[in-house]
Amino acid sequence: MGMDEKSEQTYTQSIILIGLMGSGKTTIGKEISRATGLPFLDMDSVIEEQVGMSISEIFRTKGEAHFRALETALLHYMEKAFLRDHKIHVISTGGGVVLREENRSILRRLGFTVWLNVDLPTLLQRTARSHGRPLLAENDREATLHRLIDERYPLYAETCHISIASSQLQPQQVADFIVARSAQFAKSLQ
Ligand code: S3P
Repeated sequence: MGMDEKSEQTYTQSIILIGLMGSGKTTIGKEISRATGLPFLDMDSVIEEQVGMSISEIFRTKGEAHFRALETALLHYMEKAFLRDHKIHVISTGGGVVLREENRSILRRLGFTVWLNVDLPTLLQRTARSHGRPLLAENDREATLHRLIDERYPLYAETCHISIASSQLQPQQVADFIVARSAQFAKSLQ
């Protein structure tokens, strides 16, 4: 898509990516940002900047519950500020953002919410060399991912406006599909 086409298109709601660690939220979010010109916001990175610590350090020194509270506080802030100021972003979330019911309803109000639904073999492959993911650091990765799939897939399904089975797709294909569906979604709201 050329620059002219990009500037002609107006986006009326944020695009939010949800899914497990390794589902491609950051890669695809950046791709969508490039294609649309919308600013990219990664919730984990915002929290790291706010606190001045990495996610791993936050988990280690303050505990997961503290991290979850920061995550919910950031969602509340975004809901208030972005909707009030009509700020539109591409937002990548942390994999556990759907655990709280409060978060799930904010996500649906905040924008067009897309679940990147990826199978276990692909998640295992993509998280093989991952650093900075405390939940996968010490445990048996396969067993952990298996448990997280069981716990969270129903929550992603409940939260999303659409889901994409994206294991076999290239980031660019997924991004193009999401941009097209987001435009349809915006029209359906008019
Ligand atoms: C988490 C996923 C991580 C990060 C934190 C907890 C989770 O984000 O928020 O380590 O509970 O699944 P990514 O999904 O971006 O790796």
